[in-house]
Amino acid sequence: MAIPQSFLDELEARCPIEEVVADYVPLSAKGGNLWGLCPFHSEKTPSFSVSPDKHIFHCFGCGKGGGVIRFVMEIESLSFLEAVRKLAARAGLELPEEDQAAQARRNRRKRLLELNKQAARFYYETLKSPQGEPMLRYAQEKRRLTPTYIKRFGLGAAPDSWDSLIKAMTALGYEKGELLEAGLVVAGKNGGIYDKFRNRLMLPVIDATGDILGFTSRVMDNSTPKYLNTPETALFKKRSILYGIQWAKLTKRNFFLLVEGNLDVITLHQAGIDNAVATMGTALTADHARLIGKYTKELVLCYDNDAAGVEATQRAMTVLKDTGFRVRVLQLPRRKTPEGELVKQDPDDFIKFQGPAAFERLLAGSADQSEYRLEAIQKKYDLSKLEDRTAFLKEAAQMIAQLSSPVEREIYAGRAAEAASVSKEAMVREVEDSRRRQAGQKRRKEERAALTPAVDLQPKARELRYQNMRSARAEEGVIRLLFLDSTLLSLCQELTAEDFSSPLWGRIYAALSQGELPPNPAAFDAVLSGEEADLLARLLHTPQSLAEGRQAMTDYITVIQEEARRATQADPVAALFAVQAKKKQKEATEEQT
Ligand code: UTP
Ligand code: MN
Repeated sequence: MAIPQSFLDELEARCPIEEVVADYVPLSAKGGNLWGLCPFHSEKTPSFSVSPDKHIFHCFGCGKGGGVIRFVMEIESLSFLEAVRKLAARAGLELPEEDQAAQARRNRRKRLLELNKQAARFYYETLKSPQGEPMLRYAQEKRRLTPTYIKRFGLGAAPDSWDSLIKAMTALGYEKGELLEAGLVVAGKNGGIYDKFRNRLMLPVIDATGDILGFTSRVMDNSTPKYLNTPETALFKKRSILYGIQWAKLTKRNFFLLVEGNLDVITLHQAGIDNAVATMGTALTADHARLIGKYTKELVLCYDNDAAGVEATQRAMTVLKDTGFRVRVLQLPRRKTPEGELVKQDPDDFIKFQGPAAFERLLAGSADQSEYRLEAIQKKYDLSKLEDRTAFLKEAAQMIAQLSSPVEREIYAGRAAEAASVSKEAMVREVEDSRRRQAGQKRRKEERAALTPAVDLQPKARELRYQNMRSARAEEGVIRLLFLDSTLLSLCQELTAEDFSSPLWGRIYAALSQGELPPNPAAFDAVLSGEEADLLARLLHTPQSLAEGRQAMTDYITVIQEEARRATQADPVAALFAVQAKKKQKEATEEQT
C-alpha cells in the first residue's frame, strides 16, 4: 500500500526523531546534535548522532542512518509499513484506508492474536488459582523458577479439564471456528470440540514484537508427550519461531545463544544469560537465521552433548554457512553422578549443578569449541589412509594456528598428532609454519588496504559505488545544499538528473527538482533502500556552510556538468539523450516560475 506523502509529513511532524530515538537510546546534547551509544553496533564511546533540525540519525561508527521511520524499521526490525503503523499509533494518528483484502487479513490476524492473549491471561490466572497449584509447584520447585521469571515469560496452567478454556473464551465472545483456527482446541468425532491443552504447564510463545503466536506446554510427570505445541496455524509457524526472542533481542551481549529446550531458555535468562533462544524442538532453518541476523551476526550453539545434539549442531552450521554468521560451539561437559556415572547435561542441569558463574566461564572460554572444531575436521577424513592423514594434518594445523594461546596450540597439536599417529614435534612445526603463513597473509592484506585511499569516501554497497569520484563528490554537495535550503533550486535550471554520475543522487535530485518529494529525510525513507538511506544520512550529516551556499552550488554544478560532458563526448547516443532531457527540464522550470 502506498501511503500518501501528506500523511508521512504529518507523521514526521508528530514524531520528532529525537523523541522517538530517546525511547530507545539515552542521548545527550553536544554541538547542536544529540549523541548516544549506537544501538546498531556495540561501542563504548558515542558515535551515534541525531540531528533534530535535519530530522535524521546517523552513526559514524557503523554507517547506519536515515529518518525517523528508518530508525524504527531498524531498531524494531520492522518493514516500512509496520514502522509507519507503529509511529502512527504512537502519535495517535489514523492510518489511511488500505485495500479491503489486506485489511480483512490484518483484522483476522489481530483477532487471533487477541484470542491468544486472552488464552494466555486465562492460563496465567489459573496458575495463581488453586487449580494451578501443581503447575506452580512444578515450576517453582522442580524447575526452580522465581515468580519474577514465571511472570516475565508469562507462564500459566491449563486446568485438568476438557472445556475450561472453551468456556472462558466463549464467554468473551470468541467462536468455535476461531478457537480451532488458533489451535487452542481440537475437533472431536461428533462435531464437538475440546481443550487441546489439559493439565499442563503453559508457556506462551511470543514473537519479537510481543505478540503471542501460540503455546508450548509441559507435563509435570513422565507421561507423554512431554511437550505439546500449538499446531501449525496462520500465526504459529515453527520454522520461523525463536522462543525467547522477545527478551533476547534486548540483550547487551553481542551474540545469541541457541539452546534446545524452551525451559532451558527461561532458566538461562533467570541466570543472567539473557540472550538465549530456542527453536521449537525443530532444526534451525534459514528463516531462523534471518531472524537472528536482524539482531546479531554472532551465534553460540549449545546443543545437547549426545549423538542427536552433535548432528543438530552440524546441521545448524550447514544452514549458517555462507550467511556471514560467526558461529561458536559450546559443549557442556558431562556430569559425574554421586554413583560415578558420567551423564550428559543440558543448560538447565548445568546451571542447577554448577551455577550461573560456571556457565559464564564456559561461554567465555574457547577450549571446548576448539575441541569441537578439531573433532569436526577429524570426522571428514579416514585416518587409516595416508593421503587423508596428510590432508587432515594440514587442515588441523590451519585451525590450531588460529588459536591465540600457545598453551592451547600445544595441547591441540598434541591431540591432532595422536589422532594421525605422527610425532607431536612434527605437528607443532606444521602449526607454527601455518601461523607464519597466516600472519604474512594478514600483513599483505593490511598493506593493500593502506594503499587504497578514498576508500572511506566510497559507499560500502557495491551497486552504489561511485563511478566518477569527482562528479559524485559534487553531486553530494548539491543534494546536501538542497536539503539545507531548497530555494537554491533556482540555481539548478541547467542541471538535469541525467548529468549525475551516481544513479542514487540523480534519482534524489530528480525527485527534489521536480517537486515530487520535499527535502526531508522521512519522505525519502519510503523510497530508498536501507543502504541508500544510510548513504543519504551520511551525506546530510557532513557539515556544509550555507554562508557560501550560492557560490558552492554554482561550483558543484560546474564540476558535474564538466564531468557529464566528458562522459557523453565518449558516447554519442548518451549525448543525444542529454540534449533532449535538458530541453524538457528547461520547459518544466520555466512553467514553474
Ligand atoms: P528435551 O526433551 O530434550 O529436553 O526437549 P528438555 O527441554 O531438557 O526437557 P525437560 O528439561 O525435561 O523439561 C528439548 C525440546 O524439544 C522439544 C521441546 O521444544 C523441548 O523444549 N520437544 C521435546 C517437543 O517438542 N516434544 C517433546 O515431546 C519433547
Ligand atoms: Mn532439561
